[in-house]
Amino acid sequence: MKKKVLAFACAMMVTASLTACGINEVVNGTAPSSSQRQGELANSPVSPSVVHNPQGNPHKILVAYFTYPENTDAKAIHSDKYDVMSSASLKTRDGVAIGNNTVIADYIANQTGGDLFSILTEKPYPTSYDETVDQGKEEIQNQELPALKSHVGDLSGYDTIILVYPNWWSTLPAPVQSFLKETDMSGKQVYAIVTSGGSGFSDTIQTIQQAEPGASVHEGFALHHNDMANAEGAAQKWLERTGWLP
Ligand SMILES: Cc1cc2nc3c(=O)[nH]c(=O)nc-3n(C[C@H](O)[C@H](O)[C@H](O)COP(=O)(O)O)c2cc1C
Repeated sequence: MKKKVLAFACAMMVTASLTACGINEVVNGTAPSSSQRQGELANSPVSPSVVHNPQGNPHKILVAYFTYPENTDAKAIHSDKYDVMSSASLKTRDGVAIGNNTVIADYIANQTGGDLFSILTEKPYPTSYDETVDQGKEEIQNQELPALKSHVGDLSGYDTIILVYPNWWSTLPAPVQSFLKETDMSGKQVYAIVTSGGSGFSDTIQTIQQAEPGASVHEGFALHHNDMANAEGAAQKWLERTGWLP
């Protein structure tokens, strides 16, 4: 564990120095904004938390994702401190920080026609990045599974689940574990996509497979959070190998 923590700390230092060198940028995505998303949530026939794609979802794909900024007050975390500590804040939409995993999940849903689901905790995480890092560690160490306020409901309309998440303390964030515990993915193809400060997938593929023994779990791709400027390019490259593009 000590080694993993050290690797993470080093990755954070690299992020801090690169950010200080001026790699901050604004990404203008075509995906729905958070407020549009909230509006669409209310219209979903399957679950009020699933955003249905108007393209009709030809490949029966659900893109489920977890991201820190959607689980705190994103306006409050868009600070210099957060800029330095996480590349998540390197991207903004309507002046508000958006998560690394939101960028990837939105892009994949838009390109494939897949539906979109954001894993949201009942209790928001602190707006302090440092406190969130500590809380994320405690949850994992104590095997706490935070209660969720978004629920995916019936998965029978989907063949493929694309799970997009950050690496937290060299494993799956506890809220993603909560999501897996309440969701039966038996018979589905599950593709994992991770962003991190250098830890990559760590043990997450095995953790997902253990939580979903009836599913076939595959590595999608891993992206370093310093490479978020190329997130859509990386997603596109992966998608071109899947056969899901029109
Ligand atoms: C609680 C917490 C723990 C983290 N632990 C790790 C880690 O162990 N290894 C790592 O490489 N990055 C770690 N990170 C960095 C995130 O994985 C990375 O910044 C990710 O891209 C954030 O995605 P998001 O903006 O969608 O939340 C951690 C971040 C947080 C908030």
